[in-house]
Amino acid sequence: MATIGLIGAGHIGSQLARLAVAHGYDVVISNSRAPETLATLVAELGPRARAATAAKAGDIVVVSVPLKNYRAVPVGPLAGKIVIDTNNYYPERDGHIPELDDESTTTAELLQAHLPTSKVVKAFNHIYAAELTTDGQPSGATKRRALAIAGDDLDAKATVTRLLDQFGFDTVDAGPLKEGWRIQRDTPGYGPRRTAEELRKDLAAAKRYADQSPREE
Ligand SMILES: NC(=O)c1ccc[n+]([C@@H]2O[C@H](COP(=O)([O-])OP(=O)(O)OC[C@H]3O[C@@H](n4cnc5c(N)ncnc54)[C@H](OP(=O)(O)O)[C@@H]3O)[C@@H](O)[C@H]2O)c1
Repeated sequence: MATIGLIGAGHIGSQLARLAVAHGYDVVISNSRAPETLATLVAELGPRARAATAAKAGDIVVVSVPLKNYRAVPVGPLAGKIVIDTNNYYPERDGHIPELDDESTTTAELLQAHLPTSKVVKAFNHIYAAELTTDGQPSGATKRRALAIAGDDLDAKATVTRLLDQFGFDTVDAGPLKEGWRIQRDTPGYGPRRTAEELRKDLAAAKRYADQSPREE
């Protein structure tokens, strides 16, 4: 079974670590500080978890750091790997990033450009961290919650779809990375619980920031 690396062990990273361990994966977690700072979480997660260099140890690696820090994600150890990007752009937290402000790119495309030989799949960006461990249901459950993915590598997306299914969620494929904007903040699917059918409608109804009312910071 694959080892899942988690770069970032905050709200989302720690929850994905809990889900992964609960489904039998080994996890390796890292944050911006020394491994000792993750001792409490590692103890909670149990023997399948350790704090070390997640980029190196993970077969599949989740990037879940504040977007402003994406350039700190190591490139070499992630070469050829599936990298799951949970990140969102909040200018008040991340500072202004011109190519996101003018919508000439998307958050996951930025990470893909930073990691040219990795297979970036956008996922888990539009569900509140706490709901990751409460909203999952077995495959085939009525009104099962769906999560969107986007990515340019079909095999990587198939792997992430299987992972989501194990974690309790249906998947809706929004298309290539450049379509990831359809599930960015301030779009209809961002946040609420949605079935696959509802989420497909949300993705279709999403508007670019330029076509929305101005947002207050
Ligand atoms: N919170 C949610 O419900 C939610 C839901 C979906 C998506 N997201 C998105 O997911 C991303 C992470 O959100 P979050 O709420 O989990 O953030 P968070 O609670 O602030 O956690 C961020 C984590 O990233 C680590 N980190 C920061 N810089 C790093 C670096 N250079 N290298 C390695 N680790 C680093 C932090 O470690 P230190 O503590 O050591 O700095 C911390 O463990 C954001 O883009 C957010 O928008 C969040």
